Order: sequence, then C-alpha cells, then structure tokens
Amino acid sequence: MKFLVLNGVNLALTGKREKGVYGAESLEEINAQIASYMKKKGHEVDFAQSDIEGELCRLLHGAEGYDGVVLNAGAFTHYSYAIRDAIASVSVPVVEVHMSNVHAREEFRRNSVLTPVCKGEVLGFGKNSYILALESFLL
Ligand code: DQA
Repeated sequence: MKFLVLNGVNLALTGKREKGVYGAESLEEINAQIASYMKKKGHEVDFAQSDIEGELCRLLHGAEGYDGVVLNAGAFTHYSYAIRDAIASVSVPVVEVHMSNVHAREEFRRNSVLTPVCKGEVLGFGKNSYILALESFLL
C-alpha cells in the first residue's frame, strides 16, 4: 500500500524548536525512519510539509490515490476550517497525529477542528505517533 505523511506549519523545525516537547531529531530523520519501517513491511510512504494552509489543502485534494494520509497539521489543527473542509472533501481516510500530548498542554491545544472529519487520532507518542497512525491502516 501507499501512504502520505503530511506535516503542517512549523513542523519543518522539528529537532530545532522546543526539543523538550518534540525531540531532537529533524523531520527528515524522522521521515527516513518512518519510510524504512514501512518499507520493511512492504509499503511505500511519500512525505510532504508546508507552512501554508492553502498548500496543505491542495496536497489533501491531490491525495485521493493514496491508501491513507497521516496528517500533523501543527497549530492549524486548532482553528483551520479550510483544512477541515479539505479533509471532508476527499474520500481518502486521514488520521490526525500529534507528537505531543496536546491534552496535557495549553488549553487551546485541547480542541481540534479536524478530529470530527478524521478517521481517528494518535497523539502523545513523539515520532512514534506517525508509525502508530500508519499501523492503523494495516489492521
Ligand atoms: C503538534 C501540536 C500542536 O498543538 C502544535 O501547534 C504543533 C505540533 C504536535 O505534533 O504535538 O505544531 O501538532
């Protein structure tokens, strides 16, 4: 199967920003580990990242050919109705991901406008949140 891992705003700074929250590994390093884990299982993964809300919507519009999308929209999670509508507009299943446990942080992070239109949500397991979300498509 073929999957898309899509990262949103500020995620390109993973490994540099708030290391105590998001870890010291870069997004490229994390993506390489995800690709190798999934390759061993016989699956292919494409990766994309954007800080731009409309670009993430476009990437979701183009994701119909995938068997599933794993989306960490970053802070857009908490207020982007545009990304919410983009997810609702495509038939590909989308699993929402967060590296941190957003429920143990600031109040504004507890609300996601995306969860109601996602297949499910994985959060709080650091970089392994991505792997766990991908695994959900293999069950
Ligand atoms: C995040 C959590 C969001 O609240 C935050 O804005 C991020 C990263 C996470 O992976 O834990 O940028 O999505």
